[in-house]
Amino acid sequence: MDFRRNLLQWFDQNARELPWRQTSDPWAIWVSETMLQQTRVSVVIDYYTRFMARYPTLQSLAQADESEVLALWSGLGYYRRARALHEAARAVVSEHAGVIPQTAAALSRLPGVGVYTAAAVASIAFSEPVAAVDGNVERVLTRYFGHEPVPGVARSGELRRAAEQLVDRERPGDFNQAMMDLGATLCAPKSPMCLACPVREGCATRGEHAVPRTKKMLSRKTALALVQRRQWPKAEVLLQRRAADASQMPNMWELPNVKEGQESEDMLLLTVRHSITNTNYYVTVYGLTMNEQKLLARDTAERVWVPVFDLPELPLTGLTKKILNRLRVMPGFSTARPLVIAEEEAAQAALAAAATTH
Ligand code: ADE
Repeated sequence: MDFRRNLLQWFDQNARELPWRQTSDPWAIWVSETMLQQTRVSVVIDYYTRFMARYPTLQSLAQADESEVLALWSGLGYYRRARALHEAARAVVSEHAGVIPQTAAALSRLPGVGVYTAAAVASIAFSEPVAAVDGNVERVLTRYFGHEPVPGVARSGELRRAAEQLVDRERPGDFNQAMMDLGATLCAPKSPMCLACPVREGCATRGEHAVPRTKKMLSRKTALALVQRRQWPKAEVLLQRRAADASQMPNMWELPNVKEGQESEDMLLLTVRHSITNTNYYVTVYGLTMNEQKLLARDTAERVWVPVFDLPELPLTGLTKKILNRLRVMPGFSTARPLVIAEEEAAQAALAAAATTH
């Protein structure tokens, strides 16, 4: 069939070189597909490389502490993926003698492994001819077949069956990844590059197709406090732990909340924008002196002084990590000289540093 031949020929010449394409290890492929579920390739690459260096085998992850796993995932978001992968690794050890199941049906019974991930892993690692339909592939298919795009429907309905029939029987993993690459490059949501498309001949739309409107972003304002004590290299920051039953990011560590613009002594250090799912957070970060700590929101959160050199080991929320990096509080910067807010001079330096990050 021309579609398969043309697509695979294009893929052979244009496949993106990605670290998880240099291996046939099902564990590595599973990790990559888990990270890629809601996150762009360009963001995933570094996280994937670090994760595989620390957990080169499923067994090594199964033996790890959850907080260590979350610390490594910090910043990638959708932490449920990390918790589920950890749980699934343990399930494979205890229920499958450490051997990763080889079919999409069996994979999808593991915690956190949905239809898409099961199909991606089964096709790429085990050559099972099943279609892996993510958002990009769904767009390619709706354009090709000329359907009106209805988000989510393709994965269960008519388009899903068409996708299953299209999959190349000899090279299902390459076929699926070719579809993903096509969706991520030429068949982009806006201004698709149809002239360069390997399957334009049979494409029903050959051009920009109505794309379902993305969900409107909400916006929220919030204010956080950076409180430090002691001098570098012994500096410590005050962090609080999110509740174990929080719906988002349970048990992860973050900067304490404050009420915005409360006292004249507050020092605005930084403003950042941070997106979580469909919400943009506009966050202001204040430096509080030790005496102003009483201004921290009175809640029941558990607060702890954390030595700056321990920060990389903690499961920080992505926002917290971003702020601590920008303010040069995280160790690892050659210029690292964290500020001690209690000192006027250091606070001025912090303000200057914050100003240069924009
Ligand atoms: N998105 C999801 N899985 C992918 C893969 N294996 N290669 C490129 N992009 C992807």
